[in-house]
Amino acid sequence: MAGEKHAEAWLGRLRTRDVPVGVIGLGYVGLPLAVAFADAGFPVVGIDTDRDKVGRISRGHREVDDIDAAQWQRVLAAGRLRASTSYEPVRDVGVVVICVPTPLRKTREPDLTCVLQAVAEIAPRLREGSLVVLESTAYPGATEELICRQLEQRGWTVGRDVFVAFSPERVDPGNREFGIANTPKVVGGATPRCRQLAAALYETITRRVVGVSSLRAAEMVKLLENTYRAVNIGLANEMACICHRLGVDVWEVIEAAATKPFGFAPFYPGPGLGGHCIPVDPLYLSWRMRALRYEARFIGVADAVNRSMPQYCIGRIIELLNDAGRPVRGSRLLLLGMAYKRDTSDVRESAAIDVAAGLLRLGAVLEYADPHVPRCVVGSRRLEAVEPDADRLAKADLVVVLVDHAAFDRSAIARHARRVFDTRNLLRGIEGDHIERL
Ligand SMILES: NC(=O)c1ccc[n+]([C@@H]2O[C@H](COP(=O)([O-])OP(=O)(O)OC[C@H]3O[C@@H](n4cnc5c(N)ncnc54)[C@H](O)[C@@H]3O)[C@@H](O)[C@H]2O)c1
Repeated sequence: MAGEKHAEAWLGRLRTRDVPVGVIGLGYVGLPLAVAFADAGFPVVGIDTDRDKVGRISRGHREVDDIDAAQWQRVLAAGRLRASTSYEPVRDVGVVVICVPTPLRKTREPDLTCVLQAVAEIAPRLREGSLVVLESTAYPGATEELICRQLEQRGWTVGRDVFVAFSPERVDPGNREFGIANTPKVVGGATPRCRQLAAALYETITRRVVGVSSLRAAEMVKLLENTYRAVNIGLANEMACICHRLGVDVWEVIEAAATKPFGFAPFYPGPGLGGHCIPVDPLYLSWRMRALRYEARFIGVADAVNRSMPQYCIGRIIELLNDAGRPVRGSRLLLLGMAYKRDTSDVRESAAIDVAAGLLRLGAVLEYADPHVPRCVVGSRRLEAVEPDADRLAKADLVVVLVDHAAFDRSAIARHARRVFDTRNLLRGIEGDHIERL
């Protein structure tokens, strides 16, 4: 009965937005989410261990490009969002949403340190009757093992005294069409009550909530989605290597195959996977399955193909320079794009950085242009972005397109560069003997 009482009271307060929300981790996922809740009328506190970031947000800096500028201004003007490095505000909230990083260790095994640290800070401060949602990607079983068990150690019963759910973040950075409001939100609860509360919460910021029957099912949804992408990108990358051997243009093949109105979804090759999700998340699943004595074979093959792509691209660059009678050492290369994908500033796990590092090791004289990444670290070197103007394009022994940012001037690249290696088909539709595609 206590559970019913807590849940009913909580749902009533949710309707009037009288439930303070705590968002843990103010990164690409957490900050837009905190802004969405604040814009929906909730008082929100964002908690992040990065002092500098909290300082910048507190001074009104928007931090994440994907947050709509007008929405940001609205939330600031309403005074409904504050940022903190302290976990003390958790004592006053009715909802905690955890959005901290879940990377891989150097050994390529899951690193759940940030989730564990966050839960250790939240658990002793949480009020009875609160809802805790994990949005960080994790392995199937993680929400139960890392969150429910911790809360039960306070003597609480999950689903009665406290509520726990998993709702994977599905946002696609840089995507102007789909954001929090119009991307359906998958929600799984530790109990049906937990799911009901979490669904009611997300219905305040998104048009459609898709309930699934358990925490594990919700965790698996995310892992299926990202494994699907990793495997299909791996297939496209393998096709690129095959087509090159056969003297066939892989881009032409994919475009023609994509005209089939059913049974084919196009994926495109590139210099390798990047970002916080696609190269990482499937390995959470294969790691978990190894413990259950099951080898997740597709994940292993896709990972191997995708990870070989930076080196494959370096091999193609070496061949192109060789054709021009030049060694890599001392050759002047202009790399276009350093982010992990189009129109984002995120360089985490970026394959472009791996290509750049390999070329630097071989002694290339490197410059890069990226309108979204003004500076970056490659190996032990700090690089500053340059303007890809006509002079720079013309002076480079080879221009290498590593990201197809919309801001790149396609015709200027094709016109001024002496030789181009285009790993993203940025120059699609432009012909010329000086253009080599992946
Ligand atoms: N970026 C994406 O596109 C995306 C998409 C879907 C899912 N995800 C998942 O969402 C989660 C967060 O990813 P992100 O891209 O927002 O990461 P991020 O690195 O951009 O942000 C995470 C934030 O958490 C903070 N943090 C780390 N440890 C903390 C702690 N113990 N307490 C409080 N704050 C802490 C960091 O300082 C950082 O600001 C990950 O699990 C990721 O896999 C990300």
